[in-house]
Parts: sequence; structure tokens; C-alpha cells
Amino acid sequence: MREVRVRIKAETFAAVQRDAVFCGAASAAGLDEAIGGRYTSIFPAFDPGAAMTSRLPFTPLVASLSATVPFVGAEAIERQRGRRFVARIGANESVFGPSPKAIAAMQRAVAEEAWLYGDPELHDLKVALAARHGVSPANIVIGGGIDGLLGLVVRLFVEPGTPVVTSLGGYPTFDYHVAGFGGRFVRVPYVEDRENLPGLVEALVREAAPLLYFANPDNPMASWWSAGEVEAAIERVPEGSVMILDEAYGEFAPAGTLPRVDANDPRVLRFRTFSKAWGMAGMRVGYGIGAPELVSAFDKIRNHFGVGRVAQAGALASLDDAAWLERVVAAVDRSKARIGAIAAANGLTALPSATNFVAVDCGRDGAFARRVLDGLIGRDLFVRKPGVAPMDRCIRLSAGTDGDLDALAEALPGALADAAAG
Ligand SMILES: Cc1ncc(COP(=O)(O)O)c(C=O)c1O
Repeated sequence: MREVRVRIKAETFAAVQRDAVFCGAASAAGLDEAIGGRYTSIFPAFDPGAAMTSRLPFTPLVASLSATVPFVGAEAIERQRGRRFVARIGANESVFGPSPKAIAAMQRAVAEEAWLYGDPELHDLKVALAARHGVSPANIVIGGGIDGLLGLVVRLFVEPGTPVVTSLGGYPTFDYHVAGFGGRFVRVPYVEDRENLPGLVEALVREAAPLLYFANPDNPMASWWSAGEVEAAIERVPEGSVMILDEAYGEFAPAGTLPRVDANDPRVLRFRTFSKAWGMAGMRVGYGIGAPELVSAFDKIRNHFGVGRVAQAGALASLDDAAWLERVVAAVDRSKARIGAIAAANGLTALPSATNFVAVDCGRDGAFARRVLDGLIGRDLFVRKPGVAPMDRCIRLSAGTDGDLDALAEALPGALADAAAG
């Protein structure tokens, strides 16, 4: 076999290694969030030496990255444990599922149209989303979930060394993509369990960065900023920079959270998804609303058949079922209230939530919360936790069915007792 050694200049390697090490750190945070320390051994540690001597002609950047995923799936943990979870309340999926109209549309599409490629222009879904948001179809880009769109928007603006502003301990998939394109992280810590919105904009201006990522409401803390505050922050975004406003949980947010944004303002790209309130995480449909000059740039790089025909049918039919959305939001509110009650019954504090999950403060440090998390996983509950201090004192519980929360109520006292025993 031909051996190809990757040669890069020492200073390039140092820069890449720094970011790669960061990527490892980001991944460690992701792992923490995903599963707690117990299962981290299933991932290889970053080894720059090994990457440098790969026999395949990877780009220097790819050679420097660790092979990892921002989140470890419940299935991976189940395989590791050799046992299924009884409750899956760790990934902020919607246990309430898709609208019955969406299910019917997808069943029909599976039976009659699965052999066809989807519409690469996603015309009907774009038109429906434009009508829903009162914008033009030229303002809409649709992709394989927000996660897929995040990768594309990073590709549009980031090359090795480009500064990118994000929150320390925020949604890790964004960091994953930035690391994958060699961006330089400018990371702004949370303040009082919220993303530091003024601090993020300040860093954007200071660094003259092309991209700022801000999730509102936020994951992992479920905290939020008001519409007025977000609008004021957008006013401070300079021409030539873009705020990615990730509103994956927008449908759950209290009134007065979602800002009024001019869809033709090239300084903002807001993202929504069918994965959360619409209950279709497994189908992979997300969309962006932005200025036509920004949205049309995705056509240069996107995977045109990346949203399957069945997924398109399900998303389109969902939009016809506003009543379903209302029911889901109400069910999530009830579930979050019960999570709060279960937390309180165990001496813990549920933080206010604008999402479909609750961050529960375990009252001590990250190591203690990790033991609580381990205890819950050991009792067959799939849950996650924030990875960065001081938010890592919390565990994160997604809204569940009554059965899921019965299992939580039963497991939590034992998990806490074990955690306290060390
Ligand atoms: C803030 C945030 N953005 C995006 C996503 C992923 O959305 P999608 O399923 O559309 O890729 C999540 C999922 O947990 C999230 O928490």
C-alpha cells in the first residue's frame, strides 16, 4: 500500500492542533452532556501524532481533527450497556410525536412515493413556510435539520483561522462544524445560566467576525432573552456579519420571546426545525429564514436531495395542523411542571424553561451532577447534562410521557442517594 504522509508547516500545525484540541474539549463537553464520564472510553482520545502519520491523503485540517460526534446517541449507549432505556428524555425530542396528519401523509408517501427523489427545490414546503412566516419563498432555505444547515452556513463563511463567536458551553453541534472548517473560536461564557447576548455582540464587533451563533431559547439551560433584547442586539450587528439565531425551541417560548426581524436583513439568519415541537426529529427537516442573497448562497453548496420525499410530505402536512402544535405545547408545559414537582420533592430546583426540557440544578458541583446522571442512566433513563461549569451542576431532562416521568420519580431518589454516597 502506498504511504502518504501529511506534511504541513509547523506553525499551521500548531494552529490546527490548538483548534483540534479545542475540538476535543468541545467534544468532551458534548460527551459530558451526552452521557456522563462513564462511557467516554468508547471514543478514542485525540492523538495528533497518529493523525500526522495517516496513510491517507487527508487535508491537514481533517488529519488534525479527532473522530467524534457532538452528541452520543441513546442507541450507542444502549449498545454499550447491552440494555434498552425505559425512558428517553435526554435529547429534547418530542415524545408526543408528529401530528396525525403528518403521520398519514408520511404513510402515504412511503407507500406510493418512496421510490422517487424528493423535490430538490422543496417548492411546496417553501411556499407553505413562507406563508406561515409572512415572508417570500426567496427568504426560505430548507435542509436536513438545523444541524445540517449549521454545517452549510459555517462552510459559507469560515475557513481556517476565521474568527467565529459562540457561547462557552452552548449547543455543541455548531462548534463541531466550526472545528470542521478550521474556524477560530471566540467563546463567550454564560452569565447567570444565560447566553451572554451583549457579550456575544461585543465579541462579534471586536473580532470583526463573520458569524455569531446564538440560540434563543437556549440549549442546554432552557433560558431565554426577550424579543426586545434580541432586537436591540441585532441592531448592533455590523453590516458584513451574520447572527445565526437558532430558534429550535421557538414554538415553546413564552409570548414576547421571538423577535420581529426583517427577513431581508442580511445580518440575521434565523433557524427553525420540525424536530422539536413538530415531533419529527427522525425525519430531518429544518429551515432558515433570511435575506435572499444569503439564502440563495446555500444553493451553491447544499445537498439538493438531502431532505427526503417522505420528510417533505410530513413537514408539509404538519403545517396544516396548528391544533396539534397547541396540544404538544400544552402537554410539554404539563410535563415540565411535573418535572419541577419531582425535582422539588427531591430537594432540587428546576430552572425556568422556555423549551421542551428542564435544567435541574442538583445543588452541588459538576462531579455530583455527573454522579446523579450516571445513577439515572444506570436506572435505565436516558438523560443528559450540560458539560461546562457552572452549568454542569445541572442535569437536563426533556419533557416526557406520564410513564417516563413515573420512571423518573422512581429513579431519582436512588440516583441522588448514590451520588451523595460518592
Ligand atoms: C439549539 C438547538 N439547535 C438545533 C438542534 C437540532 O435541530 P435539528 O434536529 O433540526 O437538527 C437542537 C437539538 O437538540 C438544539 O438544541
